[in-house]
Amino acid sequence: MLPAQWSSAQRRLHWWTASLVGLGFVLGWVMVAVPLRALLTKFLLYQAHKTLGLLVLLLTLARVPVRLRRGRPAWDVALPGWQRRAAAWMHLALYGLLLVVPALGYLTAATAPAQVPTLFLGVIPVPHLVGADPAWFAVLRQVHRALAILLVALATAHALAALANHLRGHRGLIAMWRG
Ligand code: HEM
Ligand code: HEM
Repeated sequence: MLPAQWSSAQRRLHWWTASLVGLGFVLGWVMVAVPLRALLTKFLLYQAHKTLGLLVLLLTLARVPVRLRRGRPAWDVALPGWQRRAAAWMHLALYGLLLVVPALGYLTAATAPAQVPTLFLGVIPVPHLVGADPAWFAVLRQVHRALAILLVALATAHALAALANHLRGHRGLIAMWRG
């Protein structure tokens, strides 16, 4: 049977993930633009970016089993079938990117020619399971960046659709916000 509403864990995980992705994305651009002469700032921004990204990965790994076990509340009956199908595909794509983008980020960090350690929360060393590899790094950083842009573009379209439906009187946004 479908649950009557999103659980509070599902709602918290949704909004925490959205905030961390937004912040991590902005930090990604800022940290690469910081000049090497501001080395400490650059290092700290990279660590913050990697921590936010790894948190997104951990939250998503916690969220997917909850979603598979518990399911989602019934769709708003006023929502046309094509919009439900489009939203379902969008959600699937977002879940996929929430796993793939941080995984590619990890591989980018691990293969980087300048072997900077990855310190989760600034203190916990995360082992790099693959070593420095300039050729792979060149490819991985491009794919990481391209898919991060795709993730944020899709999430923006998804948020705009949620807001448009809210203005038309659908209760999807309220259901995700406060159940
Ligand atoms: C949802 C999570 C993430 C998002 C949205 C994201 C986004 C970005 C963006 C926008 C950039 C800048 C692109 C560029 O100009 O090169 C970037 C770079 C980078 N990210 Fe992430 N990232 C995420 C997760 C991670 C994780 C988990 C790690 C590592 C543990 C990571 C490591 C890196 C590294 C090392 C770079 C710099 C690559 C370079 O030097 O060009 N990212 N990321
Ligand atoms: C990076 C940002 C975001 C990501 C990755 C994201 C991801 C997702 C995913 C994967 C779902 C499906 C939940 C499930 O079926 O388990 C969802 C649902 C939802 N999201 Fe987001 N979201 C983001 C930002 C936003 C924002 C900014 C808003 C509103 C302005 C929003 C509003 C909603 C609503 C209303 C639902 C429920 C839709 C429904 O009932 O079908 N999301 N989101």
